[in-house]
Amino acid sequence: MQFYLETNRLILREIRETDIDGMFELDSNDKVHQYLGKHPIKNKKEALENILFIGRQYKELGIGRFAVIEKSSGDFVGWSGLKFNIGEKEALNDFQNFVDIGFRLIPKYWGKGYATESSVATLQYGFNTMNYPIIFGAADVENIGSNTVLQKIGLRFINTFYFKQTECNWYELKKEDYGK
Ligand SMILES: CC(C)(COP(=O)(O)OP(=O)(O)OC[C@H]1O[C@@H](n2cnc3c(N)ncnc32)[C@H](O)[C@@H]1OP(=O)(O)O)[C@@H](O)C(=O)NCCC(=O)NCCS
Repeated sequence: MQFYLETNRLILREIRETDIDGMFELDSNDKVHQYLGKHPIKNKKEALENILFIGRQYKELGIGRFAVIEKSSGDFVGWSGLKFNIGEKEALNDFQNFVDIGFRLIPKYWGKGYATESSVATLQYGFNTMNYPIIFGAADVENIGSNTVLQKIGLRFINTFYFKQTECNWYELKKEDYGK
């Protein structure tokens, strides 16, 4: 399944098996995983498993996180986009079967506004192309970067909840409130 979204500085497209080096650089980094349970991956086999998992989501659910490519360099920057969380295993804050927005970038690309820029395009795709009625977001309360991005793109804080003993913020944006 193919996706193609463009922003000023970025291309968002499907994650491909050829992104394995970038996906390994991303998910083997301790800093990236600081607020994600602290379990960075150890080898490229795990990076490939992650890519194949996302590929199955594209096929079965019609959506999954997008690869973020920097236009000026062609570099793989990380991923950003929507995920359909299905079933008990993916439940969060007592929600099941919901779409959330997320982002995970290689640290050398942090601080350039890329998470915000990619997420603005992602929200537009989610509401206008996929026609989702509501998009959720969640972040560790201590993950200032992630909370800032979610708020900047217009998601509204709803409540805090605990995920594996970590306090997290829960956000939502309804289609009817999008762009207001
Ligand atoms: C969270 C993450 C995606 C942010 O990416 P980014 O491209 O640096 O974010 P942006 O540049 O779009 O930042 C948007 C705003 O957040 C602020 N911000 C970002 N990271 C910050 C941090 N660590 N501390 C304080 N503010 C931060 C920026 O200053 C910016 O604010 P401004 O527009 O008012 O200047 C990135 O740090 C990351 O990949 N982290 C690891 C994975 C992760 O935690 N993902 C989220 C899981 S819920």
